[in-house]
Amino acid sequence: MKILLFGKNGQVGWELQRSLAPLGELIALDRHSVDMCGDLGNLAGLAATVQRVRPDVIVNAAAHTAVDKAESEPEVARTLNALAPGVLAREAASLGALLVHFSTDYVFDGSGQRPWAESDAPAPLNVYGQTKLEGEQLIQAAGPRHLILRTSWVYAARGGNFARTMLRLARERDSLNVIDDQWGAPTGAELIADASAHAIRQVLQCPADAGLYHLTASGETSWCGYANRVLATAESSRAAIKDESLQPPPLKARIASPIATSAYPTPARRPLNSRLDTRKLQTTFGLTLPPWQAGVARMLAETL
Ligand SMILES: NC(=O)c1ccc[n+]([C@@H]2O[C@H](COP(=O)([O-])OP(=O)(O)OC[C@H]3O[C@@H](n4cnc5c(N)ncnc54)[C@H](OP(=O)(O)O)[C@@H]3O)[C@@H](O)[C@H]2O)c1
Repeated sequence: MKILLFGKNGQVGWELQRSLAPLGELIALDRHSVDMCGDLGNLAGLAATVQRVRPDVIVNAAAHTAVDKAESEPEVARTLNALAPGVLAREAASLGALLVHFSTDYVFDGSGQRPWAESDAPAPLNVYGQTKLEGEQLIQAAGPRHLILRTSWVYAARGGNFARTMLRLARERDSLNVIDDQWGAPTGAELIADASAHAIRQVLQCPADAGLYHLTASGETSWCGYANRVLATAESSRAAIKDESLQPPPLKARIASPIATSAYPTPARRPLNSRLDTRKLQTTFGLTLPPWQAGVARMLAETL
């Protein structure tokens, strides 16, 4: 079996390189790949790559993920998040390949407090969410067998992430204010990649299980709750190192103070309720999604 992966160096793409490898021959590209086009901005090049590789499975982990920047470059965001997945979907349909694509909690408007189900109506608040939603729709319209996996608040040990930013700021500043009225589930790229590989295997054997799913860690928190979990873990791991010369620098701010979204204006509006209901995925694929705290603890153990 041949698997063609786009976006191999992103948070999720990096972990997919590991989790997809045992499923078959993996051809992994990024936008700088030289032998074949892996640039989502080059739509003709993308189609040519798929026709040349003729994969059984296409996995798209690349995207325009800079939520605030997307507000000032909507056409670039639309090309990467909507038109490119549309091209991959048309090529997948013509080959009979399975297309796996990732989407986001930001397709919802964040109203209410109930976790969003796959059947709930999307109503994105920002350009990123609008373009990601259009990408989903173009895939569905092109009609290949597909898995669209909506996730939220992605982190990984590799690269920059919210946890690392909080640690850096807490070492530099005496106080830290973090948004406390946006709720969701921090979800590790490792978990997304492993659950995706499992779902791909099952869909290849049981095509009726293809479709749209929500995939996040279980439980919920606010950004402030997440930050405080990170700071508390950092403090306890520092205390566990008895040799002071080996300890990481101490935190100046040991606790994050809650603020409202309205006190922290950003170019893109963000949903307050990013909770996703994952029961459909867990039931269909026989998966148990672990609590968000477990993955964050593991990531911090690698990071600290
Ligand atoms: N991050 C989140 O919190 C979050 C939340 C919900 C859903 N998602 C979705 O989950 C998926 C994976 O996200 P992630 O967190 O792994 O994102 P990420 O770490 O930002 O990775 C995105 C990747 O896309 C690549 N990319 C950007 N422009 C490209 C282009 N023109 N051609 C090819 N590749 C390009 C980036 O490459 P460069 O490094 O070279 O720019 C990067 O490797 C995406 O579909 C995203 O929308 C993410």
